[in-house]
Amino acid sequence: MADEVRRTDAIPDEVERILRDLPDWFGIESSLLAYVEAARHLPTHAAFDAAGRVVGVCLLKRHGPATAEIELLAVLRDHHRRGVGRRLLAAVEDDLRAGGARFLTVKTLGRAEPSEEYDRTRRFYEAVGFVDLEEFVEGELWPHHACLLMVKHLGDAAAAR
Ligand SMILES: CC(C)(COP(=O)(O)OP(=O)(O)OC[C@H]1O[C@@H](n2cnc3c(N)ncnc32)[C@H](O)[C@@H]1OP(=O)(O)O)[C@@H](O)C(=O)NCCC(=O)NCCS
Repeated sequence: MADEVRRTDAIPDEVERILRDLPDWFGIESSLLAYVEAARHLPTHAAFDAAGRVVGVCLLKRHGPATAEIELLAVLRDHHRRGVGRRLLAAVEDDLRAGGARFLTVKTLGRAEPSEEYDRTRRFYEAVGFVDLEEFVEGELWPHHACLLMVKHLGDAAAAR
């Protein structure tokens, strides 16, 4: 369970520790190291357990005033399915809404590629309100994998006024 979820300063070492705990998702060393490098400068939210240990992280890319993208979302393996990811995303979304964002996107492995692990990932994103926007075949967006672009509407600032 997550005791606290909040925006933090950069925590690349913690990001690396969590990614190395998830080899079924982040088993390619070069891409793991690219995420760790990105963690040095991208906005970071983290979930902490009662002892203050980081158990989940989310890195964000802001594309413009209305849109942001989840660059990375990862929760320690033995904390899966305990609501950490849901709480982490809720905090991210609150901060994005406060900053005027209206859409949050994420790219994940395409449905064309059978994968038990990423099937769980996609189920998570669906459960927290994302829908499929477009699937790109292998080579179209990512060189070696099909890519599914998902989106969640965070709300409409104009409608709220
Ligand atoms: C995807 C991930 C971030 C989700 O975090 P989590 O803390 O395990 O998810 P939560 O417990 O908050 O789940 C919220 C809801 O998502 C759905 N969900 C989560 N895991 C699921 C699974 N394995 N199977 C089916 N539904 C699932 C459920 O509806 C769940 O609600 P419920 O438990 O009340 O039924 C986490 O499992 C993870 O780090 N996975 C490996 C890395 C990864 O896939 N990152 C994203 C790459 S794009």
